[in-house]
Amino acid sequence: MHQPAPFQHALDDAARQDERTRIARELHDDLGGNLIAIKMALARLSARLPADQSGLAGQAQYIDDLVERTIESVERISLGLRAAPLDLGLVAALAWLAREFTRQTGVAVTTHCPDTPAPAPAHADALFHIAQEALTNVAKHARATQVTLTLEREGGELTLSICDNGCGIDPAARTRPHAFGLRGMHERASALGGVLSLSAAPGGGTMLTVKIRLAPPVAPAQNKKQNE
Ligand SMILES: Nc1ncnc2c1ncn2[C@@H]1O[C@H](COP(=O)(O)OP(=O)(O)OP(=O)(O)O)[C@@H](O)[C@H]1O
Ligand SMILES: [Mg+2]
Repeated sequence: MHQPAPFQHALDDAARQDERTRIARELHDDLGGNLIAIKMALARLSARLPADQSGLAGQAQYIDDLVERTIESVERISLGLRAAPLDLGLVAALAWLAREFTRQTGVAVTTHCPDTPAPAPAHADALFHIAQEALTNVAKHARATQVTLTLEREGGELTLSICDNGCGIDPAARTRPHAFGLRGMHERASALGGVLSLSAAPGGGTMLTVKIRLAPPVAPAQNKKQNE
């Protein structure tokens, strides 16, 4: 039987998460917006009730409480739908990040993540947050029209690279005292024994690369013990 490539699975997961995020957004924006409008209309109506209609005022208060509880439910349900992207694994989370970036900025991202092993959670977390800040920087500073995001294994190392075709990074800008993004990315990488580097991308633009050594695979005996 034909098995889709692992990246296809990751894309399917990312598409499902996209759908959940879209529903969460619509719940919050459409339903939430209408509920607020109902609450305001009810307040206007209540203000016009004659003073001797205390029964009607009580009913209006009851409806207002109900609307308030429904607003809270919408918030809770839409938050629940927005699963943490990393719950889906690093490759799916990166695919989701790339789509969100394109949705928000209109800049196309080509994602290339061949069958990479799942890194330890701390490594996945660091790589995801580095990719997030790198894409934010592309949106803020690069004036790019195309981004390539690659995650690949090279021997015992996992390499994440994000390459844009924008204006390139000014060497002086890398050490700006109030720029915390690059510093944070370097710190995240080095906390795990990894290395982050910036270089000029071929044809202009910026290439950011992070290399992190993969943790050695868990020995089968130890693995069995952990599962017991
Ligand atoms: N992809 C990029 N293309 C062009 N310039 C970039 C790119 N990424 C970073 N830069 C430059 O490097 C500087 C430092 O980036 P850094 O992320 O540290 O700070 P910042 O984005 O300005 O602020 P923040 O602290 O909010 O991240 C930026 O101000 C910008 O000039
Ligand atoms: Mg930044």
